Amino acid sequence: MTNNLNCRISDQELIEIINFGNQPLGNGFLQEGNFNKEYFFEMKLGFCAESKMVQLFNQPKSEKMFNENYLFFSETSKYMQVYFEDLFKNFLSNDYINKNKFIIEIGCNDGIFLKHAAKNNIKCLGIEPSKNVAEISKNKGIEVINNFFTSKLCNEIINDHGKVDLIYAANVMCHIEDIKDVIYGASLLLSDKGLLVFEDPYLLDIIEKTSYDQIYDEHVYLFSLTSVEKLVNLFGLEIFHAERTNTHGGSMRYYISKKNNYNKSENALNYFNKEKKIDLSDVNTYFKFKKNVENSKNDLINLLNQLKKNGKKISGYAATSKSTTILNYCKIDSELIECIYDTTPQKIGLFSPGMHIPVCDFKAFYEAYPDYAFLFAWNHFKEISNKEKKFVESGGKWITHVPNVSLI
Ligand code: SAH
Ligand code: TYD
Repeated sequence: MTNNLNCRISDQELIEIINFGNQPLGNGFLQEGNFNKEYFFEMKLGFCAESKMVQLFNQPKSEKMFNENYLFFSETSKYMQVYFEDLFKNFLSNDYINKNKFIIEIGCNDGIFLKHAAKNNIKCLGIEPSKNVAEISKNKGIEVINNFFTSKLCNEIINDHGKVDLIYAANVMCHIEDIKDVIYGASLLLSDKGLLVFEDPYLLDIIEKTSYDQIYDEHVYLFSLTSVEKLVNLFGLEIFHAERTNTHGGSMRYYISKKNNYNKSENALNYFNKEKKIDLSDVNTYFKFKKNVENSKNDLINLLNQLKKNGKKISGYAATSKSTTILNYCKIDSELIECIYDTTPQKIGLFSPGMHIPVCDFKAFYEAYPDYAFLFAWNHFKEISNKEKKFVESGGKWITHVPNVSLI
């Protein structure tokens, strides 16, 4: 693990915003026999006044997080399946993708997006370091390089395949500590008019919703247009368009190209202005966020303790990586939340990172509803509330912490 005191973009000293204490890996669900070998790191959030980048001081080594046992499978959400199919169609209709173009996806996971390219005979390549999910992609007919995306790999790709018309990346750029090398690589790989399009949870949403659970080991950066523009400018690139999406609790999709290719869209200009108005460049914005996070923590602990005192049964719903931050920061264990129900076969039977709450098969949820279920996948509320109507009809209540600790 690198112990960083300086910004990874500007090399200026980081200002500490929040210290979340010792945290395990967000996706580090584990067996009981491995409790005493569990890995922890000090998770502190910082801000750089020069690059405007919000980032973790420390991030565990990539290989520790992304390997053959990676436990996040994109296709577990039906909503996300439709989302990526729609996005693929959108890229086709805008001619960002067509039969004469070559596209690359960074972090293609189980092929949720690229399977549409493979099906449509579009020349494509996935870059995916986690072997288990890379294999799932390959089984869908996608060519995959089972490795991390680096500038060195980009040079090999240029030799083997030539330049690229579209590089797409969802929920992965914010995972990569050496982001400068990634953007440099992309700048080499892109054809003259080529596009780099990526999307990640948006800093503004995290601040507005106090969704501090988006902060965990994998998310080394919380991006905004302001910080991404400064970053890509270093490599002759610029943002020319941006779209806000509601996935993962609120994300931003950045459209980037070599400088002076495209005029900045009205959308992009509006978001830049909005970020100025909201003072995303001012450290005081982050100190206010810190206060809100502390209040959220206190409210949650008080609510859970009160419910428990009243003899209520509380479970968790969806063993997300986000839940790891909440549980460990608020020190919530199986005394308060008896178990977490989840649909991922590979997670069932394991225990949550750090607080060791058992992860149970979601089918057991229907056999004995709890009085309250903490909605850890609050970002999938629509999908979940639709399929769990009976829980609410039978008197069950959802607990959420976003945007405030409350019952639904
Ligand atoms: N794009 C998918 C998966 C996001 S999870 C989606 O939006 O649902 C992040 C994925 O990126 C994981 O599969 C992880 O193995 C991969 N990843 C992490 N670091 C990477 C890197 N440096 N290069 C390429 N992929 C990476
Ligand atoms: P997500 O919010 O994508 O997780 P993360 O915080 O790790 O990015 O949610 C994915 C997890 O939620 C995965 O463990 C499966 C679980 N899940 C359910 O158990 N039921 C559901 O209906 C949905 C949509 C997700």
